[in-house]
Amino acid sequence: MKATDFLTIDDLRARAKKRIPKLAFDYLDGGAGNEANIARNRQGFTDIVLCPEYMRDVTERNQKVTIFGHTYDAPIGVSPVGLANLIWPKVDTYLATMARERNIPYTLSAVSTSSIEQIAEIAPDHAWFQLYVPGQEYICFELLKRAKATGMNVLVVTVDIPIPSRRLRDLRNDFTMPFKMTPKNIWDIARKPNWALATLVNGKPRFENMAPYIDDAAAGKSLNAAQALQVSPKLDKDLMRRIRADWDGPMLIKGALSAKSAETAKRIGADGIIVSNHGGRQLDSAPSTIEALPRVVEAAGDGMTIMLDSGVRTGSDIIKAFCLGAEFVFSGRSFVFGVGALGEAGGQHVLDMFATEVDITLAQIGCTTMAELNSDYLWDS
Ligand code: GLV
Repeated sequence: MKATDFLTIDDLRARAKKRIPKLAFDYLDGGAGNEANIARNRQGFTDIVLCPEYMRDVTERNQKVTIFGHTYDAPIGVSPVGLANLIWPKVDTYLATMARERNIPYTLSAVSTSSIEQIAEIAPDHAWFQLYVPGQEYICFELLKRAKATGMNVLVVTVDIPIPSRRLRDLRNDFTMPFKMTPKNIWDIARKPNWALATLVNGKPRFENMAPYIDDAAAGKSLNAAQALQVSPKLDKDLMRRIRADWDGPMLIKGALSAKSAETAKRIGADGIIVSNHGGRQLDSAPSTIEALPRVVEAAGDGMTIMLDSGVRTGSDIIKAFCLGAEFVFSGRSFVFGVGALGEAGGQHVLDMFATEVDITLAQIGCTTMAELNSDYLWDS
């Protein structure tokens, strides 16, 4: 099958599901509780209708966006995805390479399966670093030191995991790190030979960034328990201010959904917010991000850069987010489904799809640049 046989992220997801062991696919695809938040994220975009304007010359279009002084070629970047190489070996390096070649941002997860140093070498000008703040504070500042030493410029601090959520698929699959070779898992893996072979060649994935600090403590624990070592219920404004003081470059707070959280982010001195509900993986009763976006934009006011992720699957989702005040958009699962389905070429294919759809939608509504988008292009504004 060739890339062009896959016309939507759902097409890629279906193909990835066939090629990836259930344990790993469920980790990526699943969410918290009954996964209502995942559905709500999609529904939120579907419910928004655009208002086209015609009789304008839209011959010359571009979708470049400038963020923190860097002009990117597309309005979408790659969200952090933990344990990515478990889903398909080398996902991190494939997507970081794609981001460099296509000039979009790639966000490396703190709980990634490639290290800060490896990714910074691949994409020195395009890699952003996402931090979880672990219970042991020294780990947090050590990670910042490493990210800074590599020259990474943009820091994304995720604040929506005070404690890990209850992800039913992972519990049902008895997911531990490293995963156990139970008869069930062996059978699961045996039926996915391409994944098995690639994993054999590349080695069992582990939390590469966190390994120096938590590998022993996490060994053999359930995924949930391993995650508990990487986050902290103590993360408060004071610690956020200290992180702010420690980081010279732009700092984004990822996970703020309310006006209050936006105001807090501003007081802390963040440069921006990524409106996110962690792809529906944390609070199952959280609002969709597109629904939360206008409140955050209004409360943050001028001077803050507002971005969004969670549930973005089409170019028109990106357009809708920009119409509601987002200045950039991210997706994690879309890109990883792409690699799961197509291997290394998958990331480029996903970006091509998004970029084509953005371009078509821009022209269809009578715009030629992302900067023109505003609420005039929403049907019920
Ligand atoms: C990690 O960030 C996860 O959502 O599993």
